[in-house]
Amino acid sequence: MDKKEFEALLDKKVSEVEDILNRHLPEPKGLQKTVLESMEYSCLAGGKRLRPIILTESYKLFSGSDELPYEVESFAAAIEFIHSYSLVHDDLPAMDNDEFRRGRLTTWKVYGDGMGVLAGDALLNYAFETAFGAAAGIDDALTLSRIVKAGAMLSEKSGSYGMIGGQCADLEAEGRGSDVTIGDLLFIHEHKTACLIEAALMVGGILGGADEKEIEILKKIGSNVGIAFQIRDDILDVIGNTEELGKKTGSDAQNDKVTYVTLKGIEESEAEAESLSKEAEELLKSLPGDKDFLSMLIDSLIGRMR
Ligand code: IPE
Ligand code: IPE
Ligand code: MG
Ligand code: MG
Ligand code: MG
Repeated sequence: MDKKEFEALLDKKVSEVEDILNRHLPEPKGLQKTVLESMEYSCLAGGKRLRPIILTESYKLFSGSDELPYEVESFAAAIEFIHSYSLVHDDLPAMDNDEFRRGRLTTWKVYGDGMGVLAGDALLNYAFETAFGAAAGIDDALTLSRIVKAGAMLSEKSGSYGMIGGQCADLEAEGRGSDVTIGDLLFIHEHKTACLIEAALMVGGILGGADEKEIEILKKIGSNVGIAFQIRDDILDVIGNTEELGKKTGSDAQNDKVTYVTLKGIEESEAEAESLSKEAEELLKSLPGDKDFLSMLIDSLIGRMR
């Protein structure tokens, strides 16, 4: 597959995910209409849809088919709901205090802080309503056990030992400058960002029938890709272009964050992101199925500008 074919395929997969999200989002009505609207507002604006795409691609490696059963679509929607909630809360004035996201005003800026909190809470709950809701009507014991395992993995990786744990350490590292070690920063990146990428790969693998050893490999790939992804995010906060990025640059400096760039500089950060990604691409080779797209996706993230 050449670069052009990859990009066309990626566009197609983004549209497929957006179709899945549209079908799974609740209709804004009733007295809770505003929270439902704010959920939709934060989910349906210009995200890269990386996590659901990774989840479905990982599933396909093990299922050996391009078909996506309903429970896989539901988990793909669920992980994007969780990711979107993490962004809605991350942008709140009490956290990163950001006003632009995905090319438009942040959820709290449009709906107010209180509704921003509720939109995030609602998306988190709705993620699990969606994922476990897929079990209704399924009586095949193997599929049901995979749904339970995948749900447990998704909740662990997004929780206090996962993404939220990373956000906690990130918040507490603010303003601590040279007190923050590279080990602390790796903990932050691994948790706040890599955990959800690991979850995307592992949930896809679990639903597709990967064995324990394969799940471990998926986890390691996710860890590398996730850390590299956050390093690039830190770089883009310095060298990026607000319009292309869809969010304001300079947010980290404004919040006195310690980032890969403040600790290592741009060049070393770029080299580290590249080496982590290349190692992930190597690991991917040991897994079954057609890995071309996933491998090119990982590679494309190294120098991404958005
Ligand atoms: C932004 O994630 C937050 C990080 C973990 C760096 P993305 O860069 O995947 O954001 P969207 O979904 O494309 O908006
Ligand atoms: C956020 O990291 C990671 C999350 C869990 C949301 P950042 O705070 O660097 O993400 P951006 O730059 O606001 O997207
Ligand atoms: Mg943040
Ligand atoms: Mg932020
Ligand atoms: Mg950032």
